[in-house]
Amino acid sequence: MTAFQVLVHGPVMKLVLDGISKTLPMHKLWEQADPDAFIKDNGHKIQALVGGFKGKIDDALMAQLPNLKIISNFGVGYDMVDAAAAAKRGIVVTNTPDVLNEEVADTALGLLLMTVRTLPQSERYLRAGRWETEGNFPLSASLRGRTMGIVGLGRIGKAIARRGEAFGLKIAYYGRNRQSDVAFPYYSDLVAMARDVDILMVILPGGPSTKHLINRPVLEALGPDGVLINVARGTVVDEQALIEILEEKRILGAGLDVFEFEPKVPQRLTNCDNAVLLPHVGSASHHTRNLMGQLVVDNVLAIAAGKAPLTPVAETPWPLARG
Ligand code: NAP
Ligand code: 8YV
Repeated sequence: MTAFQVLVHGPVMKLVLDGISKTLPMHKLWEQADPDAFIKDNGHKIQALVGGFKGKIDDALMAQLPNLKIISNFGVGYDMVDAAAAAKRGIVVTNTPDVLNEEVADTALGLLLMTVRTLPQSERYLRAGRWETEGNFPLSASLRGRTMGIVGLGRIGKAIARRGEAFGLKIAYYGRNRQSDVAFPYYSDLVAMARDVDILMVILPGGPSTKHLINRPVLEALGPDGVLINVARGTVVDEQALIEILEEKRILGAGLDVFEFEPKVPQRLTNCDNAVLLPHVGSASHHTRNLMGQLVVDNVLAIAAGKAPLTPVAETPWPLARG
């Protein structure tokens, strides 16, 4: 039996590369002259794959790695990994939950404040010298007296709810299930919630089950004073519908950290002055990315040592059911 070998799918932080390579033989797929040929020749040696941030990890790739034991995903969202296919093949998928809850919730509230109070626009106004020549920046909308509907009240959604309450917001939530441990009003109908709240805060997983959940009817129900914040995945929002709604000023504004085809952001969206746009920085602090990276490493090292993974995803609970 050859040594446990690790394949890293795309460029990832140094902490991950160092943490793995000091213990295990590791290959960087993106540095191979011919990545397809590398997989063809070496796929049978690979027992761990680190990925989730660069391209899909699908059943076809798994088929070329017949001895794969773990896919260690950098990020809590693992929509780039076909976890159902991994489960069928007896491969555990791990992600990086919890360690990023507070950071992403901070970003979500920051983005909400930026959007409602038009803070980036006011900063651009100052830098353009317009304060001195044109006078005070126009008054903005306010968070006072607002209700925030959280779309996906999970780990991060609950950290956002805590912050929302501290800001004096009323909270409601939408999800597939009512949660017995929270007292916030629950909606099983997203259009109904959009009609009743002022802010839609989107923080649920990406993938086929949530694709374009936020569509034109939801945005129209949110109404002209409504604000959409998306810190989940770009695919959850019908981006074309959102652009039209923003251009028609049918909602007050949108704050987006994620995009349907990121890092491509349509020019029609960057042209919208009622949108605040961030380049997927929800968890992007040194502190939090180090914790995420360490979890990616620790999951690989655990499997290499024959131990249980720290954070398997729901589709591949440990110990794995072997078919
Ligand atoms: P989590 O704890 O699993 O929470 C997800 C929530 O979404 C749960 O309340 C779940 O409740 C709900 N949900 C799941 N699938 C749904 C569906 N099809 N329809 C309606 N509701 C659904 O996840 P988390 O740790 O909070 O992370 C949430 C997501 O945030 C991640 O998957 C990732 O995509 C995104 N994220 C983005 C950033 C960023 O940088 N912008 C950073 C971290 C995470 P029910 O199952 O009861 O419906
Ligand atoms: C990461 C994220 O930026 O955890 C997630 O799901 O979206 C972010 O924390 C991303 O996964 C890194 O590729």
